[in-house]
Amino acid sequence: MNNKTFIPLASLLAAMLVLPPAQAADTSITEQLIRWNAQASAPGNADRGKVFFSSKHGADWSCASCHGTPPTSQGKHASTGKAIAALAPAFNPQAFTETAKVDKWLRRNCKDVLSRECSANEKADVLAYLNSLKP
Ligand code: HEC
Repeated sequence: MNNKTFIPLASLLAAMLVLPPAQAADTSITEQLIRWNAQASAPGNADRGKVFFSSKHGADWSCASCHGTPPTSQGKHASTGKAIAALAPAFNPQAFTETAKVDKWLRRNCKDVLSRECSANEKADVLAYLNSLKP
């Protein structure tokens, strides 16, 4: 094998080692907390997040209506009854591992609960709360 074929082959192999498989985690609760803390006017506060999570905000549901309080075991969808895996990451290794999924559900769930998107401060507080829940 001469150098001309060897170099592209080597970089291809290197790329295969570096590229994650399709389902690999692309984020974590810590990364998401850093992200929302950076946009919030105050760092996420677990106590505020706990109150926010268990309170209604003008509509029929709180976050806890589907995710339970504390959200450390399987939740149940408030209207369909479908099981929802525990939201607190210490109790569910799949939670907060995909940025697109986190964004999609926060958008949808905040609309259901607050009739608007959650603010950066609200997200930072909720994530600080979820991150504080340990076995
Ligand atoms: C009407 C039911 C319902 C309500 C109310 C609700 N959620 Fe959810 N939530 C879901 C479902 C269903 C999923 C998707 C679960 C899955 O696929 O694992 C989800 C997923 C999430 C996720 C993504 C978790 C992950 O796997 O990374 C976050 C974050 C989240 N919800 C936060 C909230 C917050 C914050 C509130 C309150 C503002 C809230 N949810 C209210 C039903 C609800």
